Amino acid sequence: MALIAIITGAASGIGQALASALVTRGDTVVVADIDGDGAEHAASELTRHGPGAATPAMVDVRDAGAVQALVDQTLERHGRLDLMVNNAGIGVGGEAGDLLLAHWDRVIDVNLRGVVHGVLAAYPVMIGQRSGQIVNTASLAGLIPAPSLTPYATTKHAVVGLSLSLRAEAAAYGIGVTAVCPGFVDTPILDKGTPDDLPRPAGSGRERELARHFQPRLYSADRLAQDIVRGIDRNAALVVAPASARMAWYLSRYAPFVLNRMIARQMAWARATLFAQPTVQADSTTADQPERRGKVRHEHLPEA
Ligand code: NAI
Repeated sequence: MALIAIITGAASGIGQALASALVTRGDTVVVADIDGDGAEHAASELTRHGPGAATPAMVDVRDAGAVQALVDQTLERHGRLDLMVNNAGIGVGGEAGDLLLAHWDRVIDVNLRGVVHGVLAAYPVMIGQRSGQIVNTASLAGLIPAPSLTPYATTKHAVVGLSLSLRAEAAAYGIGVTAVCPGFVDTPILDKGTPDDLPRPAGSGRERELARHFQPRLYSADRLAQDIVRGIDRNAALVVAPASARMAWYLSRYAPFVLNRMIARQMAWARATLFAQPTVQADSTTADQPERRGKVRHEHLPEA
């Protein structure tokens, strides 16, 4: 039976690739994104290629009411919801000492509360149906330490915990839950840097370099989408990909001292290269923290 699915953050990257994989096998996908034009474009391209169909929806996952309306409209239109993919996310990098509450709030609001809003809207529907699958996009940064991405890693660890806990509850209703934990994937998120209205910490805008240093061969969104589809079909608890990400995850469990040493070396490299430059501060959202305004960081020196 073809699925009725909602994917948030589906105008780009992993969400778009997953939407394409589902439509290609005949499923119906609501392409939901804060980028309304991007969602329209992606949905019309997907429908053009078929054989399934896609419809666009503009939604900000930070808005619980809007996510609820998205689920309600999908039910009105299609009568059921088989798959809810809470995938929308942003990256906020930088050393924790350089980040403000505004950075933490933004990443928590999108990456964690956005997932919570999706679960709150979709789970009761699926309980009523006694069927369904919830897929939450976390990250390898939800399984292992991710220095210079501390708020991001915080949200992704929370999404893994949410997913595994919900999964244990949801099984009784015939509902599956999967957390997706990719290493670095070649998507536009690696070029976006810190959101424009937040101060930019040192290294912001160089995420692609950081990614390539950690993982020289970036994984493709299309390959990850195939992994996710397989994970959905067999109700996997976790989808961890590519193989290098699985290796890092195993090391964190069975030889954490080895992984921690590797991570420390990589952090030293990042400090010596990406972060060893003056911070460029945006001019908004620091008004309540004047002591941080215009601060320039020079203190990160290459380690011996
Ligand atoms: P992307 O930037 O290509 O796509 C993210 C999409 O989310 C964009 O279309 C964006 O407009 C949308 N979005 C952002 N904020 C939103 C909001 N408030 N409401 C609704 N939509 C919003 O990035 P990518 O890589 O496809 O990211 C998808 C998910 O995968 C994210 O949760 C990200 O954290 C996660 N991820 C990505 C990795 C990577 O290396 N690309 C690695 C691990 C996890």
